[in-house]
Amino acid sequence: MLLHIPEVLTGPALARARALLAAARWSDGRATAGVQAARVKNNEQLAAGSAELAELQSIVLGALERHSLFFSAALPKRVLPPQFNRYGGSANTYGAHVDQAIRYHPDGVQRVRTDLSCTLFLADPADYDGGELVIQDTFGTPRIKLPAGDLVLYPGTSVHRVEPVIRGHRLASFFWIESLVRSDEQRRLLHDMDMALMRLRARHGESDEAVALTGTYHNLLRQWADT
Ligand code: NI
Repeated sequence: MLLHIPEVLTGPALARARALLAAARWSDGRATAGVQAARVKNNEQLAAGSAELAELQSIVLGALERHSLFFSAALPKRVLPPQFNRYGGSANTYGAHVDQAIRYHPDGVQRVRTDLSCTLFLADPADYDGGELVIQDTFGTPRIKLPAGDLVLYPGTSVHRVEPVIRGHRLASFFWIESLVRSDEQRRLLHDMDMALMRLRARHGESDEAVALTGTYHNLLRQWADT
């Protein structure tokens, strides 16, 4: 499932994140790539020790925690700390690659299976040309470029790339999620059911049927979740 989630970061939080990114010092993005990815990766990232990183991470994680649509779609078990990248100038592209299946949490202890990849766009699309996230999967090859503050969730299994940025700078946060529900298909069914239940309640209020279906949702989650 590929899902566009609008307005994850808005207002003062988005402005603060953008101010922090404007003040940050950037370093070579290849530092965190695996062997195959490093050959095609040419961008910049905020280094682990950079002064702005901790505040940026808490802004993004705080926004995710408050976002019910993100929770419903991702059913997160573990979220790796968000990282931040910049594409522009001579460091402007990331060729076709697959993200590593297992990543280590910076705490050095937890391993995280990357069921879902996430890109949160942080630059205004009018401020740069190129930089589309191109995802190759069974659903086609969408070219994604979203308003600042919107994110896209997509399966970690996809081959994907970032097109060269030929004007301005593309800024984004990217991170991975291990889901309570490993299967993309099962996660999709649960999300569809959750959304339909929300609309059912909005239209008809509470009912015995809505309660029963909510029970079915939770019983499916109980069958499929790995906590
Ligand atoms: Ni990637």
